[in-house]
Amino acid sequence: MTTTEIELAPASDATLSTGTDMKALVYHGPGERAWENKPRPAIQHPSDAIVRITTSTICGTDLHILKGDLTAVTDGRILGHEGIGVVEQVGPGVSEFHVGDKVIISCVSACLKCDFCKRGMYSHCRHGGWILGYTIDGTQTEFVRIPHADGSLYHFPADADEEAMVMLSDILPTGFECGVLNGQVKPGDSVAIVGAGPVGLAVLLTAQFYSPAAIFMIDLDDKRLAVAKEFGATTLINSSDARAAQRVLDLTEGAGVDVAIEAVGVPATFDICQAIVAAGGRIANVGVHGKPVELHLEKLWDRNIAITTRLVDTVTTPMLLKVVRSGKLQPGKLVTHRFAMNDIMKAYDTFGNAAKEGALKVVLTNSASA
Ligand SMILES: NC(=O)c1ccc[n+]([C@@H]2O[C@H](COP(=O)([O-])OP(=O)(O)OC[C@H]3O[C@@H](n4cnc5c(N)ncnc54)[C@H](O)[C@@H]3O)[C@@H](O)[C@H]2O)c1
Ligand SMILES: [Zn+2]
Ligand SMILES: [Zn+2]
Repeated sequence: MTTTEIELAPASDATLSTGTDMKALVYHGPGERAWENKPRPAIQHPSDAIVRITTSTICGTDLHILKGDLTAVTDGRILGHEGIGVVEQVGPGVSEFHVGDKVIISCVSACLKCDFCKRGMYSHCRHGGWILGYTIDGTQTEFVRIPHADGSLYHFPADADEEAMVMLSDILPTGFECGVLNGQVKPGDSVAIVGAGPVGLAVLLTAQFYSPAAIFMIDLDDKRLAVAKEFGATTLINSSDARAAQRVLDLTEGAGVDVAIEAVGVPATFDICQAIVAAGGRIANVGVHGKPVELHLEKLWDRNIAITTRLVDTVTTPMLLKVVRSGKLQPGKLVTHRFAMNDIMKAYDTFGNAAKEGALKVVLTNSASA
């Protein structure tokens, strides 16, 4: 590739960086993160775009990374897989996006050409998948390289709300695909969602496309449960007394729920799902797990149940974008805290102490977006 093949944007004087450096949230092994200088990314492949980040967020998965649950993340990696930004540069192979376009960044990069992409399983794209802020540098910074830009970016609707749209990067498609679609939520179903974090709440919002009869929301945090009530949960269960499964069984006359959705990522919450799934029901796992879970086949072998797992494919993002744009889904209401990107260390402290801080989605903005 020659430099003349790359469309260059006029230099922006409003970004935080100087010269060829930028500030970024960098992972340095379990429990270790720093806000430090990194070189600005450059186009590496013809299908790449460089995006100047205007808005980003922190995900529960970033907390799993910092716990050391995801060992593929190496020292020095810039975290973050959610964001909105403006295209700064495109490689010669990018046809759908141009310099200056405002875009929604998908957490999953898709080449659109490989066998997995052709099956709609972008999460396992042979040349992408979930790599952003995982095996390549991510969005909690000023500039990010997006591989396979044509398959990994979405045009930002002109009149849209940036805080609502950033929920399309990850949590809305995750909740909908891994929880609601895999759980096959149907009208009249009873559904239990274990975990009322942003992802569990995204499950709650999108499950209601299908009019389930009852939605049980289970969490340790009463503040998050109160938000779930506002968002349509019919029953709230605080599981800190370790009696959540029994409560669900009592409330369903011993039958359990048609769909049990795990949106935390620890053994205790998968255990709740195993204990409450009704005969003929589905357990849909959404949480990222770092530890083995005991599978109770001695209790489940004759229950005609299905257990699914999924890494979000983001194939439903275009549909969800239309619903958010229509105002029928208002994921912007998940935002509880706003920080300048420069204050991301504080934002992590807040999101990492979500119960104490009353935090759900923490939005980060670069000053250039003002
Ligand atoms: N499968 C995918 O593609 C995918 C994509 C994105 C996120 N995720 C995962 O989804 C999960 C949820 O993400 P999030 O951003 O909402 O995370 P989060 O950390 O904000 O929320 C987790 C919630 O679980 C609750 N919780 C913790 N232990 C509990 C217990 N024992 N019983 C009941 N509730 C408990 C917490 O109080 C919190 O509200 C994470 O594991 C994340 O990594 C998966
Ligand atoms: Zn995520
Ligand atoms: Zn692919």
